[in-house]
Amino acid sequence: MGFFTSARTRKIKPAKRITGSVRLPGDKSISHRYAMLAAVAEGTSEVRSFSSSADCQSTLDCLKKLGVKIERHNQDITIHGARLRGLRQPAGTLDAGNSGSTMRMLSGILAGQSFRSVIVGDASLACRPMKRIIDPLTQMGARVQASQDGLPPLEIEGGRLKPISYELPVPSAQVKTAILLAGLYAEGETEVVEPTATRDHTEIALEQMGADIGRHGRTIAIRGLLEKGAQLEAKKFYVPSDISAAAFFIVAGLLVPDSNLVLQNVGLNPTRTAILDLLVRMGGRVKTLDVDSIGGELVGNIHLENSVLAGGEISSAAVPGWIDELPVLAVLGTQTQHGLAFHGAAELRVKESDRLKAVADNLRRMGAVVEEFHDGLSLTGKQALHGAEIESYGDHRIAMAFAIAGLVAQGTTLIRDSRCVEISFPDFFDVLGRAAEPK
Ligand code: S3P
Repeated sequence: MGFFTSARTRKIKPAKRITGSVRLPGDKSISHRYAMLAAVAEGTSEVRSFSSSADCQSTLDCLKKLGVKIERHNQDITIHGARLRGLRQPAGTLDAGNSGSTMRMLSGILAGQSFRSVIVGDASLACRPMKRIIDPLTQMGARVQASQDGLPPLEIEGGRLKPISYELPVPSAQVKTAILLAGLYAEGETEVVEPTATRDHTEIALEQMGADIGRHGRTIAIRGLLEKGAQLEAKKFYVPSDISAAAFFIVAGLLVPDSNLVLQNVGLNPTRTAILDLLVRMGGRVKTLDVDSIGGELVGNIHLENSVLAGGEISSAAVPGWIDELPVLAVLGTQTQHGLAFHGAAELRVKESDRLKAVADNLRRMGAVVEEFHDGLSLTGKQALHGAEIESYGDHRIAMAFAIAGLVAQGTTLIRDSRCVEISFPDFFDVLGRAAEPK
């Protein structure tokens, strides 16, 4: 279908149905972690189906600047581990681009190096809070400096680290990961206590690579490796497809009439599948098939059929489980029988854009009634959306969520500044164009 007007603006027409068997990019969260951990492991790691995202390329570029040898053949990557302390002081700054994960998680590793480094980011990343990693890494003994408001760039001077016991003030898998990575370098046992469970890919990968890590309820404990003279073991990794990228197709498959869609080899780690549980509870015809465990991560196919969805209220406790899926779930909320409401999601205001505002603004442009709270949204159900000019705010998940809204709207939708989809899903419009049959 005609998904173009210019390289920057994409035209979306209403869809008659969505069908076929779709392959999505490798999981972005998992790819970042495998790359960083393999970079400081002992030996050579192979990563298959690495994410095609610009964000994960930012991680690879930073690692290369730190002296790590990396070979890339499309989505297959070979990483020659430098060992925990084998990174090299970079010439110049490290550029995390748009990627909060790169900046925050890599800081954990840099805190354990015996050199000074500076990480910068693009205009969006320059507005994202870093105090959340500065506090714990400083307590561990690293010197981490940001601007006065705790914003990037970050200057990190690593060294000998001491273990801490740290209760996360905000549930954040990135912050948890930064502390666990620094914990590899500390002398003794570092503990992180989570207020609510967040994605646990770091814990799984560290277990697979021989780290001394344990979990008890909401507490994760990791013992430093250096005092025992130990190293992480290189591995052969497989990255499942990204459920947060799948989310756009999941919503499209449920909302567009006559749809029948299979999403292949999607990561089904239980800390990421809250969206599936929610949609099934609402009456969505969503099935997971052929589920297997690869490298400690669950992987399977997702089958979807057009469904009538009840809607409802989502509990605040469930928010970290679908934090990245909120924009597209809000679009879905307008098409449910009873609407959708949620609170406890103030974190969405400090993502790649202020996602609560971006979603509310754009839904209103499409004619929807939306109530915006400081920490959530309330969406009336059964709303007829009309095509409109959508502002992506340079945020990949906003651009993709409103492309899906365009499939169920009346008339043509234009997504401005649509190139930002490259941040997580460069082929998004091609894949959608192949699966969606125009009306
Ligand atoms: C991520 C954690 C989440 C998520 C982000 C990826 C990760 O961020 O929104 O897209 O890979 O750990 P926070 O840790 O800031 O909640």
